[in-house]
Amino acid sequence: MKVMITGYGRMGKLIEKTLTSAGDQVVARIDLDNSTMLETLEKVADVIMDFSNPSFTDQVIAYSSRTATPLLSGTTNMTALQHKALADLAECGGPEGHGVPVLWASNYSLGINLFMHLLPQVATALEDWDIEITETHHNKKVDAPSGTAKSLADAIDPEGNYKRVDGRSGNCGVRSKKEIGIHALRGGTVTGEHKVDFFGNDEVFEITHKAGSRQILVDGAIGAARKLILKRPGLYDMESLLFGA
Ligand SMILES: NC(=O)c1ccc[n+]([C@@H]2O[C@H](COP(=O)([O-])OP(=O)(O)OC[C@H]3O[C@@H](n4cnc5c(N)ncnc54)[C@H](O)[C@@H]3O)[C@@H](O)[C@H]2O)c1
Repeated sequence: MKVMITGYGRMGKLIEKTLTSAGDQVVARIDLDNSTMLETLEKVADVIMDFSNPSFTDQVIAYSSRTATPLLSGTTNMTALQHKALADLAECGGPEGHGVPVLWASNYSLGINLFMHLLPQVATALEDWDIEITETHHNKKVDAPSGTAKSLADAIDPEGNYKRVDGRSGNCGVRSKKEIGIHALRGGTVTGEHKVDFFGNDEVFEITHKAGSRQILVDGAIGAARKLILKRPGLYDMESLLFGA
């Protein structure tokens, strides 16, 4: 696979290292110092892997559009307009109004995506059980709960029928059936752990995912890129790419 990396930071560098040791070819590394070359460069890669910054997203989309290069993006905090631009690119944004294969995911870990995939089935089977989410991260993390914890809650409750309760303290009353408690632990160097507990009468069912390093995100993204380049134009997510028909 020939890959263009846009955003040659921590993710970009680890993607290059992993691709190179697998025998793939990184044909371009684009970052702040050479980003203008995207305006004129022809198609050179089978796929763009973008882990950069929303300030770069429009240029990356424009390049993918002009050259019909499939785009895999993991850049977070894009605007709603930028997500719409990704969808438009996938549908009809390539040359002559054709679409381009496009994938965006906030978390490329295979385990987390399997977790999301399984949760709706578990939540349906364990209807009426009490659901609590716990996430643990290193002591440098500045926000809580984690984006992934919120995504797990969304996977259980896509229509927002449950009240999300961030931690509990004081005289908060008994728990209602229609709530999901979300709890954040912080300490040490933990890369990221997520646990969903389903509490029934005299039994507890729990699912846990533990991330050991960024490598799981890189491996998941590279695996997804291999699938994406074989796909027809369109907008994909990890659910459709990994588990779709
Ligand atoms: N989806 C996932 O699984 C996943 C995993 C890790 C990180 N991320 C996201 O990927 C992005 C990058 O993460 P990182 O940890 O590698 O960050 P990083 O800061 O190490 O790297 C970002 C790179 O993008 C470059 N960049 C920033 N603005 C640019 C611009 N306007 N033009 C060209 N280059 C520009 C920076 O110079 C830097 O080299 C972030 O949005 C992060 O949240 C997503």
